[in-house]
Amino acid sequence: MSTSTFAALRSIGAYAPKKVLSNKDLEAMVDTSDEWIVKRTGISERRIAADNEYTSDMGAKACEIAITRAGIMKSEIDLVICATVTPDYFNMPSTACIISKKIGISNVQAFDISAACSGFVYLLSIAKAFIESGMKKNILIVGAEKFSSIVDYTDRGTCILFGDGAGAAVVSATSNKAEAIVDINASADGTYADFLVTPGPGSVHPATHKMIEEKLNFVQMKGNETFKLAVKTLTQDVTEILKKNNLKASDIPHFVPHQANYRIIKAVGDALGMSKEQVVLTIQKYGNTSAASIPMALNDIYESGRLKKGDMMLLDTFGGGLTWASALLPFAGK
Ligand code: ACO
Repeated sequence: MSTSTFAALRSIGAYAPKKVLSNKDLEAMVDTSDEWIVKRTGISERRIAADNEYTSDMGAKACEIAITRAGIMKSEIDLVICATVTPDYFNMPSTACIISKKIGISNVQAFDISAACSGFVYLLSIAKAFIESGMKKNILIVGAEKFSSIVDYTDRGTCILFGDGAGAAVVSATSNKAEAIVDINASADGTYADFLVTPGPGSVHPATHKMIEEKLNFVQMKGNETFKLAVKTLTQDVTEILKKNNLKASDIPHFVPHQANYRIIKAVGDALGMSKEQVVLTIQKYGNTSAASIPMALNDIYESGRLKKGDMMLLDTFGGGLTWASALLPFAGK
């Protein structure tokens, strides 16, 4: 389909809670070591939200920054979408509705999506479709997670990995093709649904004492199986999106992978032939923040002055579902 309206990523913003949970802290909680965690994951510390700080609070802070940097009025935003697997409330209202209220946006469509760590790139694909169809003009997308609310801090296989945070962006309509999101490949395979799952509460395991006693409210992960599939799928996915768009790794100044495990990032980066300078890393300080991971990483290079207007970015991500996605886009902010 040909179109004269394109979608452009106008801004980025992020928020990381203050409290730091270090590997040393975890050593006192489970049978693990700083050395094991750094060697196997690349993580040194992660941020943890305060007890009274919720997913929507972090999301709202990231959104305020993204809106200011986009240089638009809140009244110009016509859609708010939040990606999260740790919503304020598990059923309703959506976290997008709560964020909208907290930042003073009302009477516009707002909803959540659930795609785990792939959430932010999924949001980009939804925003692109809404804009190119002419339905919306300025879309606020936000990935926000209070992952600590579903982590079992006695399970060393998962508690070392995850952190809390939020990242947001404004995606706007443009007629300038040079600013446009180039391509997005988003996919899923429910065959592997049991690789990463929070079993309850839900229609399978409604909230009961038994559900809590069996710790079904916590995230469960088949780590090693997920790891192997992530490396294989992501390598294939990013290779394909570059090839399809006649681009080489050397055309991409910023490769921004989901921050799940340094060894996954390195394996995919090496397969593409990316240099150290091209690969964006925040895993050492934030761990895996799920849907917030990619926008938090983008915000990091924006705030450090590395991300400039027009720079091409390659995003890639993999998460529960299983879901995965990659995106090619220039930064169209200031
Ligand atoms: N400290 C010390 N030892 C540990 C720890 C720990 N924290 N965790 C596991 N081990 C032990 C295991 O018990 C095992 O011991 P054994 O050999 O005696 O049985 C050994 O270390 C190796 O365990 P593996 O699970 O095979 O370790 P692996 O190298 O796979 O690393 C990890 C585990 C870090 C979880 C890795 O598998 C991983 O990162 N997986 C992918 C995660 C991911 O990408 N998820 C998708 C996104 S998340 C989302 O969507 C929400």
